[in-house]
Amino acid sequence: MSDTAGDNTALEQELDRMLEIEKFPPPAEFRDRATWSDPAIYEEAAADPVAWWTARSKELLDWDTPPTEGLDDSDPPFYKWFSDGRINASAQCLDRHVAAGNGERVAYHWRGEEGERRDVTYAELLASTERFANALKDLGVDKGDVVGIYLPMIPEVAVAMLACARIGAIHNVVFGGFSAESVRERMEFSEAKALVTVDGARRKGRTAPIKEQVDEHLGDLGSLEKIVVVRATGIDCPMSEGRDVFYDEVCEAAEADCPAQPMEAEHPLFILYTSGSTAKPKGILHTTGGYMTGVTTTHRYVFDLKPETDVYWCAADVGWITGHSYIVYGPLSNGATSVMWEGAPDYPHKGIWWETVQDTGATILYAAPTAIRTFIKWGADIPAKYDLSSLRLLGSVGEPINPKAWLWYHQVIGGGRCPIVDTWWQTETGAIMITPLAGITETKPGSATTPFPGVSAEVVDEREGTPVSEGQGLLMLEAPWPSMLRTLYKEDERFVETYFSRFGKERYLVGDAARRDADGYFWVIGRIDDVVNVSGHRLSTAEVESAIVAHEAVAEAAVIGQSDPDTGQAICAFVTLRGGTEPSDDLQEGIRGEVAERIGKFARPKRIVWADDLPKTRSGKIMRRLLRDIAEGRALGDVTTLRDPGVMAELERQIAAEGDED
Ligand code: WT7
Repeated sequence: MSDTAGDNTALEQELDRMLEIEKFPPPAEFRDRATWSDPAIYEEAAADPVAWWTARSKELLDWDTPPTEGLDDSDPPFYKWFSDGRINASAQCLDRHVAAGNGERVAYHWRGEEGERRDVTYAELLASTERFANALKDLGVDKGDVVGIYLPMIPEVAVAMLACARIGAIHNVVFGGFSAESVRERMEFSEAKALVTVDGARRKGRTAPIKEQVDEHLGDLGSLEKIVVVRATGIDCPMSEGRDVFYDEVCEAAEADCPAQPMEAEHPLFILYTSGSTAKPKGILHTTGGYMTGVTTTHRYVFDLKPETDVYWCAADVGWITGHSYIVYGPLSNGATSVMWEGAPDYPHKGIWWETVQDTGATILYAAPTAIRTFIKWGADIPAKYDLSSLRLLGSVGEPINPKAWLWYHQVIGGGRCPIVDTWWQTETGAIMITPLAGITETKPGSATTPFPGVSAEVVDEREGTPVSEGQGLLMLEAPWPSMLRTLYKEDERFVETYFSRFGKERYLVGDAARRDADGYFWVIGRIDDVVNVSGHRLSTAEVESAIVAHEAVAEAAVIGQSDPDTGQAICAFVTLRGGTEPSDDLQEGIRGEVAERIGKFARPKRIVWADDLPKTRSGKIMRRLLRDIAEGRALGDVTTLRDPGVMAELERQIAAEGDED
């Protein structure tokens, strides 16, 4: 193959040339086979969004009692959807596929860190879910009780979620990368009655003693009556008599049959805690009928899913909303075959994702830009060693994707033939809100393009709230949608205050800044709190980062606003260079020049800190808060959510070295 390291400059030049291309129309072969290829769908939905969503809900879900009502908007912002309908989320995900004769279809091709394989069929997943649902009942869990789930990426995490849904218990999943202390807080806030966890969790060849940590931090939590322990690694762990039980033992003791109970459409399905602007996490509450409608519809049509033939891989963690909606509920509801990957992208080696695509024949890959940028850093020669020709659609989620990373993903991973769907949404929205439709939309690298049919988004003026047809402002969702959060758990007032106080109770404040271009496309800039003001010029850290990474020597960059006596705030950039490149004054000037050229001289970083790596959460978000702390010489805030806490010590060393040079 010609794609050796020596040809990286050729790739670089090709991507640079491609930066000039404004729009990428749907490839003809894709469009011809796409389920949705007629743009009339947008008008159809806009004509009567409630009727349209109701039709999707009836088309894609099997209601036990079909709703006669769409939206109840009598008490905004406490909206209800399909309220007189009855449905069970676990039956949607499992029973109906087995009943239709698809029990032998693989639900998850699970791949473990040490090369283990488990192909779990729909029939097997149903059997496990029924047993565990009965086990939960035996442990005293009733409809409406909260059950915490603190598990790694193993099939049991889906079983635990679905078992809760089956009996109407509300799950509260905490991402495995959070500390036990964070778990405690979340269990306390939600008054969880039971917690499902593991003996130990593997990560890159090491095993963390999870149960031991749980005991240390949650041992005295009175509301927590039961702890169920999945023996995932077989390591010894402390078990408390009367409180703790092993998953395999309770399942064995439980009855095999557990018919799903139809739930009211507005029965709570889960709580998922997410970060807010204050230190206390927000408990986002999702309910059953509307959420299932939102995730099933978007998963099917955004990914153009063909359940019989596609192999779909969402490379997120189930502990985040992306995992809830697009590893568990969306794909299972649609009867899809998914890949579930336990580990990190660089263990046992840096080609493991591509080996997994090759080995499972994955046709759809849904990943975060930060992962893509990591792969760019590692080099195109790694994916080039694998056969990725099964892929037909690529997705991006979680943060704005810079055009260069989009193009690399398109060319290197997608072989130039796969459309990319850049999907914008949030924990709060439950499902994808702004996205291309791969068979219809002309994509522009870096833009999530336009709202999904039936979704009403606007960019509005910050003061007046009036829509901006072209230009920058606040992103708003202007009408209710089925999978919207219903409240913040036990904090109704904070719910209204956070999302529905800026421009009234009928307009949802997203918390992101965005820009609309002349074609009406949305360009999400980032959280409102990541906007930097330099000499009265509003700048987005994401926009400056995108400019910096456009420099050929740069692998990744994180930009923060640092307080500055002259300009109010000044841009400080933490920059990671591509392998083999050494920092130098010339390079600094080159990067500043790149920014000046792409945005304007005022946006040039005043300060550049060379960084070997950037502090990221386990979900891959750069923690700018920590960069602000370190740049300003303050004591570091909470670092427990970092993927690799060692990164901060290294940065401190680099900042100190920066001082020496001065
Ligand atoms: C925030 C929501 C969506 C699930 C994972 C994150 C940012 C998300 C995009 C995108 C630009 C994006 C926004 C949003 N974001 N997707 N495609 N383009 N920004 O969920 O943790 O609730 O975060 O992530 O800022 O508000 P989350």
